Amino acid sequence: LDNGLALTPPMGWLTWERFRCNTDCVNRPDDCISETLIKVMADHLAADGYLAAGYQYIIIDDCWLAPDRDAHGRLQPDPVRFPSGIAALVEYVHEQGLKFGIYEDFGVRTCAGFPGSEFYMETDAQTFAEWGVDYVKFDGCNSNPQDMDLGYEAFGLFLNKTGRPMVYSCEWPMYQQFAGFKPDYAAIQRTCNMWRVHGDISDSWTSVSSIISYYGKDYNNMSLYAKPGAWNDPDMLVVGNFGLSYEQARVQMAMWAIMAAPMLMSTDLRSITAQDHLLLTNLNVIAINQDPLGIQGRRILQINGTNVEVWSRPISPVGSFAIAFLQLANHGDPTPVSVTGRDIGLTASGYMFMDGFNNQPMGTYGPDSPVKVVVNPNGVVLFRAKPI
Ligand code: GLA
Repeated sequence: LDNGLALTPPMGWLTWERFRCNTDCVNRPDDCISETLIKVMADHLAADGYLAAGYQYIIIDDCWLAPDRDAHGRLQPDPVRFPSGIAALVEYVHEQGLKFGIYEDFGVRTCAGFPGSEFYMETDAQTFAEWGVDYVKFDGCNSNPQDMDLGYEAFGLFLNKTGRPMVYSCEWPMYQQFAGFKPDYAAIQRTCNMWRVHGDISDSWTSVSSIISYYGKDYNNMSLYAKPGAWNDPDMLVVGNFGLSYEQARVQMAMWAIMAAPMLMSTDLRSITAQDHLLLTNLNVIAINQDPLGIQGRRILQINGTNVEVWSRPISPVGSFAIAFLQLANHGDPTPVSVTGRDIGLTASGYMFMDGFNNQPMGTYGPDSPVKVVVNPNGVVLFRAKPI
């Protein structure tokens, strides 16, 4: 969507994967979806180096709403969990230097059963603008996927009509694929700043690796629709939670960078380990993710007999690539592989390689040089290749 926003993949923090629809503030006051939780996480984003690393949006997912609209048909937050109202919360978030995102649904109800936007789209876009919202995640539960081509476009027009710049995050193609349609990616790219292409991520390697494999197949050439202002969205980063080993967390970071994916953390920033904090704020990996050319990487090679696959993303300066050697399987033992520069698309006369995580030089290579790496089980070797 050409609205001047999301020129690189949006980065931020989103409630859903970690905090779900916990509305029980009596028994779990520190972990329920509430203004308190958002304020605490906003404080951490601003104070702990996340904002400085680029994580700018804080987004409330489902379950912020009261069970009914107000007497004028307008959305209202749950009065117990958001006693100060959304406008005041937005102000708090803006004071931390952050931007504020909110969730709604195109259908009659959200996935968790709260009031949806169907029949109220113009009012809701207006309400969000009045509250000072900077980002809207628009879900698609409880609606007909056949109506989405028109419906998502209509809500986008209403957002635009408010005059307030808001990132428009869609789930349109995901629901259409579930229903067996081929999504119209050209229309989706024109209408949304980002769009979900896969089912919900969960806190597990099975989930993360299956999303990567899905991207590897590049269904409908979806990678070609990514560009500044328009991104495929493989869903949140689950780094910092319970399900991934450190190697697997490195894979998620490296691959979300190669896939030009929005980087939306969903983890408890109050109790995160130093190691996961460092990984999430790794500026070398983030620089690949945020590369200004905005070209999505793709799987370019599966190395016979090894389960190792090679992914490549063109990055700046022009002629450079970010390259990942990825081992999704776990045979226990690290896998040594050897290819030539040419095998992995490096056809210029020479390249300098730099480690994608720590920026250390890894030597110079030509198209016929052997490139030898050892890839850990459920692991990744990430580097940048720059022509010399
Ligand atoms: C759907 C979306 C998720 C999340 C939940 C909330 O499943 O895909 O990302 O927003 O709804 O109920």
